[in-house]
Amino acid sequence: KKKEFRQAEVNIGMVGHVDHGKTTLTKALTGIWTDTHSEELRRGITIKIGFADAEIRKCPSCSRYSNSPVCPYCGAETDFERRVSFIDAPGHEALMTTMLAGASLMDGAVLVIAANEGVMPQTREHLMALQIVGNKNIVIALNKIELVDREKVIQRYHEIKEFVKGTVAEDAPIIPISALHGANVDVLLAAIEEFIPTPEHDPNKPPKMLVLRSFDVNKPGTKPEKLVGGVIGGSIVQGKLKVGDEIEIRPGVPYEEHGRIKYEPITTEIVSLQAGGRFVEEAYPGGLVGVGTKLDPFLTKGDLMAGNVVGKPGKLPPVWDELRLEVHLLERVVGTEEELKVEPIKRREVLLLNVGTARTMGLVTGLGKDEVELKLQIPICAEVGDRVAISRQVGSRWRLIGYGFIKE
Ligand code: GTP
Ligand code: MG
Ligand code: MG
Repeated sequence: KKKEFRQAEVNIGMVGHVDHGKTTLTKALTGIWTDTHSEELRRGITIKIGFADAEIRKCPSCSRYSNSPVCPYCGAETDFERRVSFIDAPGHEALMTTMLAGASLMDGAVLVIAANEGVMPQTREHLMALQIVGNKNIVIALNKIELVDREKVIQRYHEIKEFVKGTVAEDAPIIPISALHGANVDVLLAAIEEFIPTPEHDPNKPPKMLVLRSFDVNKPGTKPEKLVGGVIGGSIVQGKLKVGDEIEIRPGVPYEEHGRIKYEPITTEIVSLQAGGRFVEEAYPGGLVGVGTKLDPFLTKGDLMAGNVVGKPGKLPPVWDELRLEVHLLERVVGTEEELKVEPIKRREVLLLNVGTARTMGLVTGLGKDEVELKLQIPICAEVGDRVAISRQVGSRWRLIGYGFIKE
């Protein structure tokens, strides 16, 4: 009996402070090690967003969860629950904008906190990021429990309860695990099943894909007639894409005019589609989708198209060179050890903005009551009302200081 391939139906983020065990936990849940780039392997940290899909299965006999067709706990045949995609984010403080791009694709998240260190600056900053992008479905994994004694685990539990008070994670379950030893991951999966539901998507809405990466997949030296078009990768947040579809990409490709960089939307055709690493005819929300196009691969090499939005020609949100935001500043900078006070936004200051998977710099040109106007370095494609994460340079790093909503 040939097994039918299903695309992942929900994106579950792995977030938390550097080295707390996000990639190790992703491996324990999926069998896939997502740190594959040479620099990641050399430095032992996650640098790029990683995707790893797995089935969640339940044993009808002992009721425990796993990703295996045969129950690892009692040997019975398991039942398929759903296929999920884990989005493994980097925890390093310098990679916060990468984390934010990933967060915009997460339907829910596992906040990983190592029991030996407890709540750390990027634990706070990542939870704030989830809150800012509007993510409410959170499960907390208290990891590395085999490194500490029982009293410490209980102490961490109470610290975490205190930490999440008044946040979106206030009622999140806290599951003690050891990702390295695969201990209690079945209980974590049960919590994921309960607390991170598959979102409802209307397949009849116009498609929208947020681009996270793009590639030139041709080997150097390939003959011109053998070259294949540019490939763009991201996650579909609405509607569906089909092979043969005409698509538009916004804000598109940069060009120079009178010494200024401008962007022009481009249209092309989908010549191939991959979902969860397999070729498919149609792709839906959930997991990483790779779109093969007729674009010149020169335009898509090295993630050049990251931050773009893909959809049906004429059906995409507008492109903005300037933004007016309703602004909400945090009281304190959460990502630093010392938690500095957030000073008001100043005219002429440059802020870093994350919108979906796009990032851009904005020069503050106007200030009002709870309102700011910015001139953007790179235009963005977004809807009125979309959320914008706002970061400011504090010392040598960009730190999350607030968020805004795009106004007309
Ligand atoms: P970044 O992506 O760089 O933020 O790190 P990460 O959160 O993905 O952590 P990673 O999975 O790379 O693990 C960091 C280190 O912690 C590695 O040496 C892991 O082997 C170790 N580690 C992860 N989980 C556990 C655990 O449950 N117990 C112990 N003892 N070590 C663990
Ligand atoms: Mg990692
Ligand atoms: Mg690491």
